[in-house]
Amino acid sequence: MTPQRTLRIALLGAGSVGSQVARLLLEHGEELSERSGARLELAGILVRDPDAPRDTELPRELLTTDAEALILGADIVIELMGGIEPARSHVLAAIRSGADVVTGNKALLATHGAEIFEAADQVGASVSYEAAVAAAIPIIRPLRDSLAGDRIVRIFGIVNGSTNFILDSMDRDGLSAQEAQRIATELGYLEADPTLDLEGYDAAQKAAILASLAFHTQVSFEDVHREGIESVTADMIADARRAGYVIKLLAICERLSDPEGGVSVRVYPALIDREHPLATVHGGNNAVFVEAEAAGPLMFYGAGAGGVQTASAVLGDVVSAARRHLAGG
Ligand code: HSE
Repeated sequence: MTPQRTLRIALLGAGSVGSQVARLLLEHGEELSERSGARLELAGILVRDPDAPRDTELPRELLTTDAEALILGADIVIELMGGIEPARSHVLAAIRSGADVVTGNKALLATHGAEIFEAADQVGASVSYEAAVAAAIPIIRPLRDSLAGDRIVRIFGIVNGSTNFILDSMDRDGLSAQEAQRIATELGYLEADPTLDLEGYDAAQKAAILASLAFHTQVSFEDVHREGIESVTADMIADARRAGYVIKLLAICERLSDPEGGVSVRVYPALIDREHPLATVHGGNNAVFVEAEAAGPLMFYGAGAGGVQTASAVLGDVVSAARRHLAGG
C-alpha cells in the first residue's frame, strides 16, 4: 500500500552517483516509499546545464538550475555535488529550512564538518553521510550507532577504491599506471579531479571523518598526515612482490596513549605482507578494520567506489531520514 504522507526530495548533483540515485529513486520509488512509510517524491535535480549530455537519462522536467527554490521546497536534501562551494552553502540552507540532509561529500565534511553538524544540532535536523566513506560499505552507522557503547582504539584499512584499483592492476595485471588510471576513470572510480585520489586527499578526508566518529572529537583533514601513490613506480611494485609484499594505500587512525587523549591519523602507501587479508582486497574494493576494546577486531569489506554502489549507501540514508522525519525526530 502506498503511504499517505509525501516527502519531497531534492537531489543536488547528477554526476556518476547522483544520476544513479535519481534512477533508483524513480525505478524503485514505490518499494522505497513502502519501506520508508512515506511516499518519496523526487521533486527536482539540481544540475549546471539541463541540456548537457548524460550517461544516465533523467526526466528533463526534473532538471533545474534553481537551487534556492528546490531546497526550500524539500523535506530531504541529497547533496552529491562534491567540493566545498556551493555545496556548503546549499547544505546550510537546507538545514536552516528544516530539511534533513544526506550527503556523500567527504571534502565538505572533512573541512566544514563542525560547522555543519552544529547548524544541524541547532535546528534538530539530521545530516547522514554513509556514502562519504568506503562507498557501499556500511561503516559510518556501525561506528556511530552499533559501536557507540564501546571504546575504539584503532581503525586502519583501504578507503580509496581508485588507487587500490590502480595499484592492484599494476601488481596483478602488469598494467602501467596510466593504463590503470584510464580504466579506473571509465569505471567512474576517480574523482573529477584525479589528483584528489592519487595524492591521497580523498583517503585523508575519509580518514578524518572516521577518526572524528570513532574518537568523538573533531579531526580536520588538515590534521591528517598524507602521502599519495604518485611516486609509487612499477619497479617498486615488482620489488615488493619479489619480497612477498604488496603496496597498498593505507589509512590509519589511532587513539594515542597520551594524557591529552590525542589521536594520530595518517595516509600513506605501505608494504603489506601478502598473507595479510588487506593484500586480498582487489580492484575498487575497500576494507576497513576496526579494533574496539570490548568487541575486539572487526572487518568491513566491499565496493569502495562506483556510482551505483555509492548510490546504495545514499538511498539507505534517505530511507532512514524519511523514517526519522515521520517519527518527528
Ligand atoms: N574517488 C573515490 C575512490 C570514490 O576512489 O575511493 C569513492 O569515494
